[in-house]
Amino acid sequence: MIGKYEHRYVPGTAGSAAPTLLLLHGTGGDENDLIPLGQMLMPEANLLGPRGNVPENGMARFFRRLAEGVFDQEDLRARTEDLADFIALAASHYGFDPSRVVAAGYSNGANIAASLLLRQPGRLRAAVLLHAMTPFVPETVPDLSGKPIFLSAGRNDPIVPQENTLQLAGLFQTAKADLTVHWHNSGHSLTREEAVAARDWLATKSAGL
Ligand code: MLT
Repeated sequence: MIGKYEHRYVPGTAGSAAPTLLLLHGTGGDENDLIPLGQMLMPEANLLGPRGNVPENGMARFFRRLAEGVFDQEDLRARTEDLADFIALAASHYGFDPSRVVAAGYSNGANIAASLLLRQPGRLRAAVLLHAMTPFVPETVPDLSGKPIFLSAGRNDPIVPQENTLQLAGLFQTAKADLTVHWHNSGHSLTREEAVAARDWLATKSAGL
């Protein structure tokens, strides 16, 4: 346990100077879920997988929701700060560089990563957001100038309507992020095709990570 999170840490092959992938699972997942995805996305990276600490009917989440797609904003704000603290504590515990953390989140995990980008833009070097929703609309759009963000979305996602993805993309564009939106025809499940697209995208950004 570090900070408020049970977690798993897998040191990368390139030593502690390599980027660290912060792996954020979807509802009902755990700290092990996205380790294989992380190994595929960036084989040389350190992998850090926290387990969401908000239970919902026995399923782990990263923040409370009031209903499907309706978030408890006060809880989201507090949990986003907890996650930011966790990154800093884990970096000093394991010796990785806190300025080289790349989030890779799916669904609920992508949503808290998006919240972190909008609230504390300096915490993440880049982000891979798989099936993210707009976590909230900030009063002031942060400065995400040049920050690489990969956002993937399914045209037939029953949980994330296309307009919601477009709203989030618009926020990132207004914030001047280096945004890539990857649409595919699937639903809410994570597909191999989008994982490959995310890996290839990360490879193009690796010099800055
Ligand atoms: C959320 O609650 O974060 C989203 O609805 C995605 C999900 O976890 O189902």
